[in-house]
Amino acid sequence: MKLSGKVAIVTGAGRGLGRAYAEALARNGAKVVVNDVDEVAEEVAALIGGKAVIAPVGPAETAQRLVDTAVEEFGRLDVLVTNAGILRDRVLWKMSDDDFDAVINVHLRGTFTCARAAAVRMREQGTGGSLVLISSPAGQRGNFGQTNYAAAKAGITAMARTWALELARSDIAVNAVVPVAATEMTKTIPAFAPLIEESERTGAPLPAWVRRDEGLGTVEDVSELIVHLASDAAKGVTGQAIGIGGDRLALWSHPAEKQVQFADGGWTAPAIAERWNEFEAETYGIPVPVAP
Ligand SMILES: NC(=O)c1ccc[n+]([C@@H]2O[C@H](COP(=O)([O-])OP(=O)(O)OC[C@H]3O[C@@H](n4cnc5c(N)ncnc54)[C@H](O)[C@@H]3O)[C@@H](O)[C@H]2O)c1
Repeated sequence: MKLSGKVAIVTGAGRGLGRAYAEALARNGAKVVVNDVDEVAEEVAALIGGKAVIAPVGPAETAQRLVDTAVEEFGRLDVLVTNAGILRDRVLWKMSDDDFDAVINVHLRGTFTCARAAAVRMREQGTGGSLVLISSPAGQRGNFGQTNYAAAKAGITAMARTWALELARSDIAVNAVVPVAATEMTKTIPAFAPLIEESERTGAPLPAWVRRDEGLGTVEDVSELIVHLASDAAKGVTGQAIGIGGDRLALWSHPAEKQVQFADGGWTAPAIAERWNEFEAETYGIPVPVAP
């Protein structure tokens, strides 16, 4: 099997995408530490022969517990998938400090603390590893009502690129995954909710245009990329932001200067105003799904 002998941690693996990742990694031979705040992680762990750790991702103590559990139960650590997540959507002027901090704590701090503890262990082992950081289209483009979430997810992609540099010599790959799948989380998105509910009600798969154009499919669709990134077949793949969902697999571009203009001796505000229209402005926000 592709992943036999490998040991993985998946955070937020009690349900949704995280559960699918844990199941897919185990199906391919990996031993998995199944983390969630919810006791449901015990069921998942029992089902796949893994070990549950019920604890909130965010604090450094949880991160250390996850790594210690991997080592104590299964002897080593090869793969970390930082997937745990919450939403606290509000427009900017209604977002409270608590809404902001809660999302930043789970996603951004949780990814940082878990990756740091994993990197320490993987560097000690000296046999490389794979850090798979779960990002989001919201972090790539911005999204209405998601100040906290978009900021955290953009930060996660930036951390992936930074850690790919820092961990290259230790042969530890670091990639950001930008998933889209039908889950409890996506059911809160007004444009997706009716599509997902219809599919659940009828048992029919999501329509082909949704899978292809919107890249919205099942959690199992996404888990194949996680298996690939955990495997030796992905050797050399690092520092990338990779999108997957439904029938789509995508490589996101690295932000780069798109067009450049020069003014000898520097720019004045009036000169910027005069020349601004020579730039082709970028779009922003996730486009609203439109049925063909
Ligand atoms: N569903 C999508 O289309 C989509 C798109 C982009 C990004 N994502 C990201 O994928 C990840 C999983 O999303 P999902 O749709 O499966 O969500 P979900 O809400 O179905 O599952 C998230 C899981 O994380 C757990 N969790 C929450 N806070 C935690 C904490 N502090 N510590 C440990 N576990 C915690 C929850 O209990 C839950 O089991 C999230 O990071 C999400 O932002 C999802």
